[in-house]
Amino acid sequence: MNGKKRIVLTGFMGVGKSTVAKCLSYLLKTENIDLDHYIEEKEGVTVAKLIEQKGIEYFRQIETASLREILTNNEAKIISLGGGTWISEENRNLIKNQNCTTVWLESNFEHCWRNITFSKTVRPLAKEKAEVKKLFDERQKFYCLADWHLIVKPELTSFDLAKIIIEEILW
Ligand code: S3P
Repeated sequence: MNGKKRIVLTGFMGVGKSTVAKCLSYLLKTENIDLDHYIEEKEGVTVAKLIEQKGIEYFRQIETASLREILTNNEAKIISLGGGTWISEENRNLIKNQNCTTVWLESNFEHCWRNITFSKTVRPLAKEKAEVKKLFDERQKFYCLADWHLIVKPELTSFDLAKIIIEEILW
């Protein structure tokens, strides 16, 4: 039954949402869409620059408008969110009102922080470790609201995680 639903991936920055979405897309031979990339194409600027130039509130407005567009106009079966998207109740309701299964890629902070620091992606909200840890802790109660929790263990590759989603969540 879940196989007919769209898959929405949520979780903290650096957990690997976009990569797992790409693996899912490859394995299921279906389109995936990354919300941050969608925003970047629409606005013609990176998310980092958008936040730096126009501020976080502006970014959140664009994020919600873009999510709404994707959910209503786009057929992509797999959607990876930004780390803050699921924190907004409005965004959660938009997703819940569509035919979606939400999966929280759950990981410990150090794993996310390591990926954040090694990644080429500039993340304006992830500059100072103690502040990012605080954000991580504050957000757990919202990520918990996802339909499924998938623990990202260090020995699992993104392909392994995608396979688990297909075998244990979708079918
Ligand atoms: C954000 C996460 C980023 C991006 C923006 C805000 C957040 O996406 O949407 O910088 O609030 O956690 P990733 O989770 O892909 O890094």
